[in-house]
Amino acid sequence: MYLPLYDRAGLNGVTIGGISVGATFGFLLLAGYVFVRHSQRKTAKVALFTENSIELSNQDESGSVVYETSGSSGSASATGLIGIMVGKSVEFSYQEIAKATNNFSSNNKIGQGGFGAVYYAELRGQKTAIKKMDIEASQEFLAELKVLTHVHHLNLVRLIGYCVEGSLFLVYEYINNGNLSHHLRSSDPLPWSTRVQIALDSARGLEYIHEHTVPVYIHRDVKSLNILIDKSFHAKVADFGLSKLIEVGNASLNTRLVGTFGYMSPEYAQYGITSPKIDVYAFGVVLYELISAKNAVLKTGDQSVAESKGLVSLFEKSLRRPDAVDDLRNLVDPRLGENYPIESVFKMAQLARACTQDDPQLRPTMRSIVVALMTLSSSDDQDCDVAFDLPDNQTIINLLSGR
Ligand SMILES: Nc1ncnc2c1ncn2[C@@H]1O[C@H](COP(=O)(O)OP(=O)(O)OP(=O)(O)O)[C@@H](O)[C@H]1O
Ligand SMILES: [Mg+2]
Repeated sequence: MYLPLYDRAGLNGVTIGGISVGATFGFLLLAGYVFVRHSQRKTAKVALFTENSIELSNQDESGSVVYETSGSSGSASATGLIGIMVGKSVEFSYQEIAKATNNFSSNNKIGQGGFGAVYYAELRGQKTAIKKMDIEASQEFLAELKVLTHVHHLNLVRLIGYCVEGSLFLVYEYINNGNLSHHLRSSDPLPWSTRVQIALDSARGLEYIHEHTVPVYIHRDVKSLNILIDKSFHAKVADFGLSKLIEVGNASLNTRLVGTFGYMSPEYAQYGITSPKIDVYAFGVVLYELISAKNAVLKTGDQSVAESKGLVSLFEKSLRRPDAVDDLRNLVDPRLGENYPIESVFKMAQLARACTQDDPQLRPTMRSIVVALMTLSSSDDQDCDVAFDLPDNQTIINLLSGR
């Protein structure tokens, strides 16, 4: 039925009055909304520039947190990554550091590494590990250092800041439960599921520096000593970026190999060829360590005929045998007793074998390794007593590609 205009719209005195009130109310609502949004943005901006406070609330699914370079270097501003500003790099004074370490007292000393001593200190209310470096800091070095202080990930030991007065000091977050090497050799053996978790955490940290930072990093010194463990037995990779710092810090060291015997891939040890695959190789050695709790280089023979053997060749020999699974049992950390699912151990050994292949091209990427370890970790959560079938080649390929 056709209605006159006012009827169609239903406009009469009462409704017009109602509309006026409604419009005023709507306008107020809209104004309120705009005001609130504006204030929220302002608050967010303030929060983004507040050091530390936003770190955990900005993770993506992979556990990645945030990455942003300092304004001065400006190399990562257009990366398209989930990036936020997390404040300026922290520079500490020598006085502050000396006071916090009780003048570098032996009581505060945690250890001694290849580049210098490490001290425990509480700085500005935060527990830190201070590495006193035996090298000088050039301008280039400082620029690199600032970039490094902005690489954040749950599975990377965070570089909080530095001090360049007198010597060079690197200030790291303190990880309170020792390193993996120590745990593998302590009287309290790590359960198998914890070992898988540690492998996964470390793989995630390495995947992050290989694929998600700008510039990307090659660690070059992946080893159980550089995997730190926190109170809940999660792992964080330490010293990433250090090799690059050393390189820019001291030109004469440019051709020097950074790395540790037993963990170096053939192409790196022989020709100095670097790529992320040298970290993958070293990570494979760490996986063998997790299985066996043995050192990367084993001393064989008696003292008169001291010989050394790599963990890689030891496992390689065993995994090539037709009775590989049974033979592998001889290499499993004896302190685990019977408390391990052999199928999971075997899969980890196969993954380690893939990582330590001579040809770097054939080694998986850290991304595939993360996927494979996630699969392993979730299958470990399920019933471990299921009948065991020897995985065939296709299963290994599927494991590595995460299918
Ligand atoms: N951030 C940290 N929190 C707690 N302990 C740490 C931290 N960084 C290093 N350590 C400990 O300090 C000791 C020395 O570490 P450092 O990195 O100097 O040497 P390294 O790892 O043994 O060898 P490298 O010099 O090849 O890295 C190690 O026992 C390590 O576990
Ligand atoms: Mg170290």
